Amino acid sequence: MDQFVIEGGRPLQGTVRVSGSKNAALPILIATLLTDEPCAISNVPVRLRDIRTTIRLLESLGKRVRVGEDAVFVSSHGSLKTQAPYDIVKQMRASVLAAGPLLARFGLVRVPIPGGCAIGLRPIDIHLKGFEKLGARRIADRGDIILSAAHLKANRVRLKFPSVGATENLMMAAAATEGRTVIENAAREPEIEDLGRFLSAMGAKVRGAGGSRVEIRGRRALKGATHSVIPDRIEAGTFLIACAAAGGSLRVDGARARDLRALLAKLRRAGARVEEDSRGVSIAMNARPLPASVSTRPHPGFPTDLQAPWMALMALAKGRSRIDENVFEKRFMHAAELARMGADVSVSGHRAVVEGMAQLSGAPVMASDLRAGAALLVAALAARGKTVIARVYHIDRGYERVEDKLRRVGARVRRVSR
Ligand code: UD1
Repeated sequence: MDQFVIEGGRPLQGTVRVSGSKNAALPILIATLLTDEPCAISNVPVRLRDIRTTIRLLESLGKRVRVGEDAVFVSSHGSLKTQAPYDIVKQMRASVLAAGPLLARFGLVRVPIPGGCAIGLRPIDIHLKGFEKLGARRIADRGDIILSAAHLKANRVRLKFPSVGATENLMMAAAATEGRTVIENAAREPEIEDLGRFLSAMGAKVRGAGGSRVEIRGRRALKGATHSVIPDRIEAGTFLIACAAAGGSLRVDGARARDLRALLAKLRRAGARVEEDSRGVSIAMNARPLPASVSTRPHPGFPTDLQAPWMALMALAKGRSRIDENVFEKRFMHAAELARMGADVSVSGHRAVVEGMAQLSGAPVMASDLRAGAALLVAALAARGKTVIARVYHIDRGYERVEDKLRRVGARVRRVSR
């Protein structure tokens, strides 16, 4: 298993380029199940483990997939299967997104119920209620959910919480269902807007994606399409936070300021100089950060995926800050590992209180999930001395060649295979 060895305390200097968005690419790749015609998706972070898992999922369902430098070409040969394999779903929960397209096209799908994970229970009840609203029946069978419907029926669906995955799953199902489906209280993440663009290119008419009311006029037969995935706002945000923690000045090429509003406001409050233009975001930080409390919310609120890296930054702040996690129930696993580096964090339920310290010190630590791993990376870049991060495979799920990108802007990071 790989580890990162990081010599901290060096400011970041230069330009880093963000990859395509993992969370946008996943549903878009899965949406290719909606057609038999070829699709070409570019700006895909093809080296990420979750993207590789998605490709395996498509292949296991009967698609042919070719991977280029940063593009994925999906075509058909023969008919598709309607059963997602458990060994893939348990590696990546987003595999449940195959349910929507397969159910709409074939009237039947069998998907394993994903278990809990490191950050919470993560049920799929909102997805299932939505499918029922579109006329599907469900039964549970030996750990799987079987969904069936001779034909789905377009309808109005109101989500009890703006779940990203449920919104995407229902949009894909609706795209291949004749008539007008309206999703209310939809998630508003930029990745949903991107999926809406792809579904429109396939021939569905999608309006309002990125807002809380999405209208989809679906049609039975969708066509192949080409699409370029939006840049990864979470990767961009992680680099900006890393520079705020380690100091220096960094340009994040490809970062879209409009997707990062909540973070940029907090970075400014923490004392960073942040500049935006049409092609990226730049940050400069020359002093110890000021405390800035955050409270995670669905987009456009502060993203839960940046909560852990933000905690690493606040561990170095000149004073006390609060972090409220409102999206996931158990997303503070990084607090204990950050404590090993000298951070002073107390967690009670959904709230963490962080007392900033003048310095963190390098230590052997372990990533427990993707974003917790990113938090350790941020802390290690800022800390005095050497940090060894174990279980880097979590970080590899969401950050493409992160050690190369960081090395090019002055960090001392090595990947060591053991
Ligand atoms: C997506 C992102 C993930 C991000 C999250 C929230 C992908 C591949 N992953 O995950 O990086 O952290 O959005 O921004 O895009 N919930 C239910 N019932 C459901 C569905 C969700 O109770 O049927 C709950 C979850 O347990 C969680 C909250 O709603 O507490 C948010 O989940 P959701 O928005 O669905 O996140 P994901 O799509 O899983």
